[in-house]
Amino acid sequence: MEVAGVKTTIRAAVASAVAALLVLVAAGAALAQVTVVGGTPEGAKLKNPVSTSAESVAAGRAVYRVECVPCHGESGDGHGKGAGSYGPRPADLTRQAYTYGTADGDVFDVIKNGVQPRLSMPAWGDLISETDMWNLVNYLRTLRPAT
Ligand code: HEC
Repeated sequence: MEVAGVKTTIRAAVASAVAALLVLVAAGAALAQVTVVGGTPEGAKLKNPVSTSAESVAAGRAVYRVECVPCHGESGDGHGKGAGSYGPRPADLTRQAYTYGTADGDVFDVIKNGVQPRLSMPAWGDLISETDMWNLVNYLRTLRPAT
């Protein structure tokens, strides 16, 4: 009797641990983002707080040369040295329209959070300041044909 009681208690404990784990996994899945092709209404609404000055473009270019050239290439055409070694090709950033949206807020979101869930375009949110990510947005504008 005693042994059976202990077994039941252990089984119950294991069951609740498994249940707790499942809840965590479900919460994680709900939080995981998928970058939306064509951009989002939030991205379209998000206002760029940094004006497109020559200083901002130069600051964006400086960060681009260090962090982005290896994959996207000097000119932004996606032919950096690291291009093609794995996963999808780095995007050609000189195109008029971007896959994940061309609004400043959408481009900012891709730089900050990467292209989810694969992240072959990495997330830079923890590595680059908000201002520099907007400077990058302003620099990338100069790579695209003027509208
Ligand atoms: C490790 C290689 C790598 C690095 C470094 C990298 N990218 Fe990317 N980037 C990619 C890949 C690959 C894609 C395409 C991802 C996909 O479609 O799944 C991409 C996509 C993008 C896009 C989306 C373009 C579109 O058409 O929507 C933007 C914007 C972008 N990168 C900007 C940057 C900027 C700015 C930097 C530097 C801070 C940077 N990337 C650094 C690999 C990289």
